[in-house]
Amino acid sequence: MNPSQIPGNLLAWYDAHARALPWRTPPARERAGEPAPDPYRVWLSEIMLQQTTVAAVKPYFETFTARWPDVGALAAAPEEDVLAAWAGLGYYSRARNLVKAARVVAGMGGFPDTEEGLRELPGVGAYTAAAIAAIAFGRRAVVVDANVERVVSRLFRIEQPLPGARKAIREAAEQITPDRRAGDFAQGMMDLGSRICTPRSPRCDDCPLAGDCMARGHAPERLPVKAPK
Ligand code: ADE
Repeated sequence: MNPSQIPGNLLAWYDAHARALPWRTPPARERAGEPAPDPYRVWLSEIMLQQTTVAAVKPYFETFTARWPDVGALAAAPEEDVLAAWAGLGYYSRARNLVKAARVVAGMGGFPDTEEGLRELPGVGAYTAAAIAAIAFGRRAVVVDANVERVVSRLFRIEQPLPGARKAIREAAEQITPDRRAGDFAQGMMDLGSRICTPRSPRCDDCPLAGDCMARGHAPERLPVKAPK
C-alpha cells in the first residue's frame, strides 16, 4: 500500500467518471478554464443533501435555484414561501436556517470563504463547512461523510468499531487529502462510495484504489464495523 498514490488515482477516476449533478462544475475545471463554482449553489446543495439522497434533492435544487437564483433573492423571500417550497424534503429546521443564513450572508456581502467562517452560519456544521470550503473555495478541508467513512475504513483496514473508529478514520482521511483540488477529491470519494465502494457488495475489480486498499481480499464489506449493540 502506498497512500501517496491515492489522491492522484482518485482524481483521475473522478475526471473520467464524476456524476454530473446540477450543483457541480465539471471536474478539472481549472485546467479547462471553466468558471469557479457558485458558493450559493454549493451551500444550498449541501444543506439539502444533509439528510436527503441525491435523487430526492435534484428536483428541489432545480426549483429553488430557478425561483431564487442567488443568495440575495433567497434572503428577500418570505420565510413561509421557502418553507412551502421545502415541503417534502423533511427536517424543516433546515429551511428555517436556510433563510436565516441567507440573510446573514446577504448582509455580509457574500459567503465566508473559510471553514471557520462558514461554521458560523445557521445550519452549517463541521461537515458542511468543510464541504463548502473545499468545493466552492478550493480550500484543503477534510470532508468525511458516511460514504467517505466507509471508503477510508476499508483503504486503511480500520477494524475498530464505530463510533470509536472515527478518530482513526479522520486521521487517515487527513493523510490522503491533497492540497490541490480538495473539492474534486471530496466529491470523488463520495462518488466512489456511492458507486464502487458500496456497503454490501463493493466492486473492487472496478475500483481505481484497489491497488492501495488494505481491505481488498479481506472481506471489505465488513467495514466499517458497526457499534456493538
Ligand atoms: N452528498 C453531500 N454532498 C455531496 C456532493 N457534493 N456530491 C454528491 N453527494 C453529496
